[in-house]
Amino acid sequence: MPASPARQLACEILLLVEEHGGYASDLLHSQRTRALAPADRRLATELVMGVLRWRAALDYVIGRAARRPIAQIPLLPRTALRLGAYQLRMLDRVPASAAVHESVELAKAEGPKAAGFVNAVLRHVSRAPLAGLLANETELARRREAEFSHPAWMLERWSRFYSPEAAAAMAEYDNAPPPVACWPPQPVAGVEFAPGQLLRTARRVKAGELTQTPAFRSGRMWIQDEASQLIAHLVQPVACGRILDVCAAPGSKTALLAALAPEAQIFALERHVRRAQLLARRLRRAGASDRVQIVAADATAPWPLTGRFDRILVDAPCTGTGTLARNPEIRWRVQPQDPERLAQLQLSILRRAAGGLAPGGRLIYSVCSMEPEEGPDVITALLAVCPQLRVLPAIEVLATIADLRVPAAALTEGPWLRVLPGRFATDGFFAAVLTAASS
Ligand SMILES: C[S@@+](CC[C@H](N)C(=O)[O-])C[C@H]1O[C@@H](n2cnc3c(N)ncnc32)[C@H](O)[C@@H]1O
Repeated sequence: MPASPARQLACEILLLVEEHGGYASDLLHSQRTRALAPADRRLATELVMGVLRWRAALDYVIGRAARRPIAQIPLLPRTALRLGAYQLRMLDRVPASAAVHESVELAKAEGPKAAGFVNAVLRHVSRAPLAGLLANETELARRREAEFSHPAWMLERWSRFYSPEAAAAMAEYDNAPPPVACWPPQPVAGVEFAPGQLLRTARRVKAGELTQTPAFRSGRMWIQDEASQLIAHLVQPVACGRILDVCAAPGSKTALLAALAPEAQIFALERHVRRAQLLARRLRRAGASDRVQIVAADATAPWPLTGRFDRILVDAPCTGTGTLARNPEIRWRVQPQDPERLAQLQLSILRRAAGGLAPGGRLIYSVCSMEPEEGPDVITALLAVCPQLRVLPAIEVLATIADLRVPAAALTEGPWLRVLPGRFATDGFFAAVLTAASS
């Protein structure tokens, strides 16, 4: 009997993520999942996200059982092994025989030898707690990598920049499914909500599948992490002002800015045409397309926009290390040199943005990265080349957000907004607010 539809799809998505750089959450919400029954879709999601989150821990136990490094195992049997080991170790409801059989079926596409190998290895995969298996592991980096299922270099730098306890808490948050946060606060049939943690205007899904409701499909309800919502509030869009959202696609923050400032003139700039189309679709669904002008352009080059702006939001491209619970594959993709490389791009975009600011206007810089190179260091470099800018302490701006549910001080680190993943049930973000001198 072939593998079940949920496992076949999970395997297909994991191969696309690893071989073609796909994003699991996009693939799990794409056309390919539509034919699945709801229970199968839930299982496929659990398997894909679980395997990506726990990859290093799974690889450790597979490596022990196979008596060879996981990297030496070809991709398809390796993926079948990870799926099998995840079910054996993490899903009580799947009988061991089923977990092994399904993975053997998946590996048959590679040939009978691969199927036999997967069968033999999975029969030796230990179901003992990881802590016990790691007790004799002498190499510290290997041990931490398996224990927290994050790259050792990432854990090491988070320990150094924050603290070992904070690094462990961030990794723990990344390894569980994050809550589904949404806005605006309104009842939706079939869905039970809890209040937002950071914002009175946010809700968290307690029960029910919001994505399957007409309210979500018609664009009356939006799914957006609460820390990401908070960034739009931090912009404090001026009622009748000119607002520019730089690096805007897919448009979560643009749509919220449009809702927060219905009278404002909003512009949204995005480099990639395909992503600009996603942004356009998003704004159409939000009923805001006639109020937002989309510009497809490179923000590091002279902009095809005239006039100055009262607010400019630069939600820059970044490593995304604050979103690893939502995008677990990123932790295996990001390289130690990436924060420094992206910081150059972020600075270049910010320098252009500084030139577009009206006197007295505000430039808000945000990244969903935990890396200091992409946070405070970028702002230090910006201030060195744009002396007309000064930092407005984030706490002062946060203190004026009427819908904030937590003390502003809980969201700041020095003059910055800093939310660590798991501090609240949100992604991690860094943000800085800068003002231009009025004369
Ligand atoms: C972090 S995402 C923005 C998310 C968006 N603000 C939201 O809330 O939905 C960064 C965006 O910047 C875009 N981007 C990357 N380089 C750019 C550039 N040089 N100029 C303009 N946009 C760029 C990417 O295509 C991506 O859509």
